[in-house]
Amino acid sequence: MPEGSSVTTGEILDNRMVARDHFLMRVFLPLSFARPLPGQFVMVRDCRLSGPLLARPLSVFGFQRRPDHSVMELLYRVAGRGTSLFSRMKPGEGLCVLGPLGRGFSIHADVKRIVVVAGGVGIAPLSFLVDEGYRQSPSLEKRELRVYLGAGTEELLTCRERLSGVCDLRICTDDGSLGYRGPVTGLLGEELHEFAAEDTAIYACGPTAMIRELGRLLRNSPLRCEVSLEERMACGVGACLGCAVAVQNAAGRREYRRVCHDGPVFDLREMIFNGS
Ligand SMILES: Cc1cc2nc3c(=O)[nH]c(=O)nc-3n(C[C@H](O)[C@H](O)[C@H](O)COP(=O)(O)OP(=O)(O)OC[C@H]3O[C@@H](n4cnc5c(N)ncnc54)[C@H](O)[C@@H]3O)c2cc1C
Ligand code: FES
Repeated sequence: MPEGSSVTTGEILDNRMVARDHFLMRVFLPLSFARPLPGQFVMVRDCRLSGPLLARPLSVFGFQRRPDHSVMELLYRVAGRGTSLFSRMKPGEGLCVLGPLGRGFSIHADVKRIVVVAGGVGIAPLSFLVDEGYRQSPSLEKRELRVYLGAGTEELLTCRERLSGVCDLRICTDDGSLGYRGPVTGLLGEELHEFAAEDTAIYACGPTAMIRELGRLLRNSPLRCEVSLEERMACGVGACLGCAVAVQNAAGRREYRRVCHDGPVFDLREMIFNGS
């Protein structure tokens, strides 16, 4: 098991729908569960079921320490069997939590502008990054925080309340039902000239097509960008190699990294996309 992580039985405090197919689950955890870093994730499963393949990776969306326990928030989209099972879990039921896992986002003390690019439920780790990594920093008032938040349609958007008021929020929907019509990378591409490499950090999470397009947009740009990948996972702890992705190492050679162990956060410049 990775250092600092543990297997814990949490108790569901509530589990409610926040948008079509999207749920917010709050989980009671003992203090022995380590405080996650922004970008880290947990492997979770219903404690009544057994078998590692039934655990699913979810990013930490929120985490609050109380005097005698912690509360972890998970924001998830129902994609298939595992997440559908989660959506039917009730308060008081046990959730087996393995974590915190993986390598999170870098926090830059020097940047003046933080740019967040979120596709769908990709906002989960990014919202925690803003909260935990930057909002509590006294110098955040001196920084500009811009969030590009995208979804297929207005009813699939989450987190608007949490983000509005604390950032310059740019909503994008594929069908134009709210905000910019088109993908987040479309609007980001139009506004990219506003950002300077020396004072901006970009963070992104979303579907593979979005990350690939971001790679294309920033291919010749000096802007720094970290992306959190949502690769399919089995063990979540670096043992099965099921989540390997191709990257380019510092010497320019191709090698493979495990998203669960070496990521899920990577420098966008390291990524090798099929065909690139
Ligand atoms: C590090 C990490 C963090 C994640 N954080 C979150 C989060 O905070 N909230 C959230 O909703 N989801 C998150 N995901 C994705 C989530 O783990 C998958 O949606 C989930 O495992 C699907 O399980 P399932 O049994 O419901 O669906 P399955 O029955 O396994 O699959 C249903 C459909 O979803 C597709 N799918 C399955 N896994 C993935 C995946 N990892 N990425 C893209 N498509 C997938 C399948 O190809 C299939 O089409 C994260 C993934 C990773 C690796
Ligand atoms: S999921 Fe097993 S090595 Fe990453």
